[in-house]
Amino acid sequence: MLSQKALLLGAARRPALRRALVGTPVTRQVVDRFVAGETLPQALDVVRRLTGEGLAVTLDHLGEDVTDRAEAQRSRDAYLAALDGLAPLGLGRRAEVSVKLSAFGQALPGGEDLALELVRPVVEAAAAIGTTVTLDMEDSSTVDATLGTLAELRRDHPETGAVLQSALHRTEDDVRALATPGSRVRLVKGAYDEPPSVAFQGRDEVDAAYARCLGVLMRGPGYPMVGSHDPRLVSVAQRLAAEYGRTPDSWEVQMLYGIRPAEQHRLAAEGVCVRAYVPYGVDWYGYFVRRLAERPANLRFFLRSLVTT
Ligand code: FDA
Repeated sequence: MLSQKALLLGAARRPALRRALVGTPVTRQVVDRFVAGETLPQALDVVRRLTGEGLAVTLDHLGEDVTDRAEAQRSRDAYLAALDGLAPLGLGRRAEVSVKLSAFGQALPGGEDLALELVRPVVEAAAAIGTTVTLDMEDSSTVDATLGTLAELRRDHPETGAVLQSALHRTEDDVRALATPGSRVRLVKGAYDEPPSVAFQGRDEVDAAYARCLGVLMRGPGYPMVGSHDPRLVSVAQRLAAEYGRTPDSWEVQMLYGIRPAEQHRLAAEGVCVRAYVPYGVDWYGYFVRRLAERPANLRFFLRSLVTT
């Protein structure tokens, strides 16, 4: 039987549903809970607020699956503008950026070269203001290409971050390969609907794989970034960090903007480095649907708003 996640992500690909959701004012209100605004100035206001409250941030210009080179170039330009906007704030690594390579043309013909060509100036601009770029991970068909681009970028910019998804069978090997000195790796469960041939299907299996991967990262010489809202896994991370003598500046927890904000602040007040993933931009549909698919409560919140507004 199809899971709720598979059903929702499948239905969301229908253009009619997309048009209906994007065009509904009430959707916009719900989206605002997860998205920091449509414009860069709005996103920078959120960055100022969150960093003023003691969090670090990673800024994501929303967009994915571009269909031509010009669109991919616009993604690059949006990130260069974001880094220009971050520069005067002087936040260094407390404000970094996350990119999806599909927004840089990865899926177009010759797309791996194009994505590398367009993302490189973003990585250089980030380094010039003392910060970093993390390459988000998309569906399983893109993992090899994304890790290939990561390896190229790390030649000159070893600080470039990677994301690995515990749901995928291959990830324990990938985690070992990336647990190298200074290597920044965000570990997440995985937001995409994947077949049993490549991914664990049960929550418990995904969580157990997450804990195993976390052990490898925490024991290793890299910089683990714990991307999860799951209280059990965050405590496992804290316990492992203590066990392996990690200092607060040698690992971090990351959560999405608008999800468990009180917990983000509570952990930060305890001395944990907490980074909020802050998405902004007009192309919020794919991001929003993945958030609905992750959690029945998010879906219920959305459906309730449709009937009560
Ligand atoms: P999950 O959704 O399984 O929730 C586990 C538990 O956490 C819940 O049972 C509940 O106890 C608690 N919880 C979760 N949400 C809550 C809420 N709103 N309120 C209260 N409790 C809540 N994915 C990907 O494929 N590629 C990527 O590049 C990224 N990048 C990324 C960055 C960051 C910073 C994060 C946090 C996540 C991602 N993800 C991602 C998404 C990730 O793969 C995953 O889909 C979501 O984080 C949801 O999984 P969780 O680990 O949060 O737990």
